[in-house]
Amino acid sequence: MPQLPPDPAFSSCPDRRGTGSEKWDRWAGRDVLPVWVADMDFPAAEPILEAVHARVDHGVFGYTHDPPGFAPALAAHLAARHCWAIDPGHVVGTPGVVTGLSITARLLAAPDDEILTFTPVYPPFLFLPGLAGRRCVRVPLAQHATAWAIDWDALEAAVTPRSRIFWLCHPHNPTGTVWTRAELERLAEFAARHALVVVSDEIWADLVLDEDAGCRHVPFASLDHPAARAAITLTAPSKTWNLAGLGCAAAVVPDADRRTRWRAAGAGLVPMVNPLGYAAAEAAWRHGEAWRQQLLAVLRQHRDLVQRAVENIPGLACVPAQATYLAWIDCRGTGVADPQAACEAAGLGPSAGREFGAPGFIRINTACPTARLKEALARLSTAFSPG
Ligand SMILES: Cc1ncc(COP(=O)(O)O)c(C=O)c1O
Repeated sequence: MPQLPPDPAFSSCPDRRGTGSEKWDRWAGRDVLPVWVADMDFPAAEPILEAVHARVDHGVFGYTHDPPGFAPALAAHLAARHCWAIDPGHVVGTPGVVTGLSITARLLAAPDDEILTFTPVYPPFLFLPGLAGRRCVRVPLAQHATAWAIDWDALEAAVTPRSRIFWLCHPHNPTGTVWTRAELERLAEFAARHALVVVSDEIWADLVLDEDAGCRHVPFASLDHPAARAAITLTAPSKTWNLAGLGCAAAVVPDADRRTRWRAAGAGLVPMVNPLGYAAAEAAWRHGEAWRQQLLAVLRQHRDLVQRAVENIPGLACVPAQATYLAWIDCRGTGVADPQAACEAAGLGPSAGREFGAPGFIRINTACPTARLKEALARLSTAFSPG
């Protein structure tokens, strides 16, 4: 599809203060521009709003399980966008991808077993194993000037007889790396050799920025490999279409026994998905493509703006993201001991790298109107200006 210019609809957005917004309440009452948690400041796409309105007009909001259109909408989306044919019968609705990760920890590993994952990574990958009484084993990625790469020696060295699961973040948060088919195939071979189940969190799969330049998302479970056929995939429309507050995600669980035990693993703790979340998800997958293309045009432009700003601030470095609306910025070259504190003092509220296992980094969310991002980048410059 030809790349569209950014749409003016993304140049302004509603004021979120006073709405219970996680993002905007964190520094409430202070002049700190929030560019941390991964939600966007843009309102949802029109077809999604219409679907939610229609569901509200129905007027009855009783206990709801996966409606008949939910799994087929996801299956059609995965086939169209990622050339991956799934059996809709393998889909299980879940109120969040984080919830799904927690369930897999309990389903696939015993207490004190190990879950391996690449770091730096989205913080729940680091703390959820402990909450479930399992252990997180961190495998650091290798940082190069233009890419983040898998350190295969570190991966081999990390595995032990207690290792059961590999939690893959694909595309990777916070670096924005899209794992290649060759890397995924090697990971599948590694997982099979060590009898690990791969759980692939693909929540960012629809925000690959350079598809036209040949950078494509390959679902791990779509590989032709036994480890791929055994894998569990977690996904959601929430990052791409900004629906996190509606709490609707999906797990693709090919194994029938695991699907049955999936529900049991969350019984009494994990609520059902709410009917508005289902309505929004189905509309996003069925009718969200035009809006997604417009969003991608904005996000590409924002990634490039951040890149230019970072290059002009001595001591900062950033490998440009291949996917996501996140910029993972290495501040260690500035000599500033606490980059998060320096940013907050300059009126900027990023995510702190230490939460991802990488002190010395910050993560900036670029999914806001361009004028606001430019203000954020001016504050970034102030944060690291000497004196
Ligand atoms: C990799 C990854 N997984 C999961 C989530 C959150 O998913 P959910 O809100 O569905 O729990 C995020 C949110 O930023 C994320 O980056």
